[in-house]
Amino acid sequence: MTELRIDREALVQQAIAAHARAYAPYSDYQVGAAVLTEDGRVFTGANVENAVYPLTICAERSAIAAAVSAGARQIVAIAVATANAGTPCGSCRQVIREFAEPATPVLIADLEGVYRERTIEALLPESFGRADLTHPPEFKDQMP
Ligand code: THU
Repeated sequence: MTELRIDREALVQQAIAAHARAYAPYSDYQVGAAVLTEDGRVFTGANVENAVYPLTICAERSAIAAAVSAGARQIVAIAVATANAGTPCGSCRQVIREFAEPATPVLIADLEGVYRERTIEALLPESFGRADLTHPPEFKDQMP
């Protein structure tokens, strides 16, 4: 487990700020996410919808894509903010899991900053990962 102090309240506030930048004209369900990476950086994301509905990108995956694109490989914590403190979807749980450890905290917040905390293991038990691949790839320097 990575020893980086997690400022949960600050991460939740960044997710709330990202929520305000959501592009969700079709569902009118805005989501913001903030990812804390191993090196202490925070990346945010919001859901980005499309007139072709299935092309929508969730906030969590938007934030993780930003983090990984910037060179990060390890998520230390993630916060998700919605008006009703909605929980991350199944696809996002799998993508969080790719860059997290079982005990990595997922903070599920409302817009007042009230949050509940779960581990990714609790949200996605017995999950599939790279270790389950019959022929695991050699990650070399890309390894989380
Ligand atoms: N959404 C997210 O951004 N993250 C989730 O984990 C759940 C769903 C978005 C996708 C879509 O823009 C809207 O919420 C309604 O599903």
